[in-house]
Amino acid sequence: MQVTRQQIVRQIIKDSAIPQQDSASSYAASNIALCKYWGKRDIELNLPVTSSLSISMSHLGACSKISLCDSAEDQIFLNSASMGHNTMFYQRLVEFLDLFRPTMDTKFTIYTKTNIPVGAGLASSACGFAATIKALDALFGWDLEPSELSILARLGSGSACRSIYDGFVLWDAGTAANGMDSFATQLDYDWPELRVGILLVDGRQKSMTSRDAMQSTVETCRFYKTWPELVNTAIAHTMRALQHKDFWLLGATAEANALAMHALMLATTPPIIYSQAATLDYMQQVWRARSEGLGVFFTQDAGPNLKLLFLASDEARVRELFNEIEIVAPFVLVTENMVCVYE
Ligand code: DP6
Repeated sequence: MQVTRQQIVRQIIKDSAIPQQDSASSYAASNIALCKYWGKRDIELNLPVTSSLSISMSHLGACSKISLCDSAEDQIFLNSASMGHNTMFYQRLVEFLDLFRPTMDTKFTIYTKTNIPVGAGLASSACGFAATIKALDALFGWDLEPSELSILARLGSGSACRSIYDGFVLWDAGTAANGMDSFATQLDYDWPELRVGILLVDGRQKSMTSRDAMQSTVETCRFYKTWPELVNTAIAHTMRALQHKDFWLLGATAEANALAMHALMLATTPPIIYSQAATLDYMQQVWRARSEGLGVFFTQDAGPNLKLLFLASDEARVRELFNEIEIVAPFVLVTENMVCVYE
């Protein structure tokens, strides 16, 4: 029998009802998967077919400030703009909040601030849900374990379960039908020299959500059955790369894994193509630079933008080649105060 999200929430938060403070806020960094989550074994609980591995993006993320409000509806603001009820942002957040209301009449005011383009395949929903569950935890004083926060964040969006942590993160797919063993943990590897560069091709809302695209891939792509083994091998290679600080192995594995995910989408009915002409131009540029000896690789999610992986020692050269790039140092961590400014 299908386990519901509400049952999971009740199992984790036993009795929750009274806010411990007027408002609470929290920050979560966005994350980029090096070995991708693409396909669910349970749609209701966002349980994945495979494990996945990501790197959190330090200062690029979302803040969520939550309080109870007296109005008849939730009040939701994104980057200071009030979100209409018909927006996907409003609807997905309200559906998530429904899981945590002490009574159905309890309404929330939420200010979300993000410094990344929303809906452009840059994991904005991941950090949004992670920040929201951390803020709810603080508001109600649940004092949950990171693994529990990770499970709850997953109910909002699968990849959100990885945004509970900084650094390298592994989301174990788990096998339990209720998903209580499907959560992320932080990997004990530091790599201060690692850089992630964002090449924005198009910051507009994508035409098809990753949610719909992955479902369509699972249902119609004849090659999907090859995916689990492919990801598991990629994770093993990435773990080896982390152990030995082998940047070329890390980059090559991430790039191949992203391309394989997009290859599955090409073979989906109807086909899904997130790349635009400029995406392919950037890929060619990366390959050209690499053939000349530069250690630079890309990964791509459910959008046309690319994220480049390289080392600090090559930062100047990468900047010269891609002057519009935004560079993140994932291991230079930020404090919430540096990001969370609400007007
Ligand atoms: C390509 O986490 O957005 O970014 O669980 O349906 O909310 P839902 O999907 P979502 O999918 C992310 C897909 C990806 C790969 C990844 O982050 O691992």
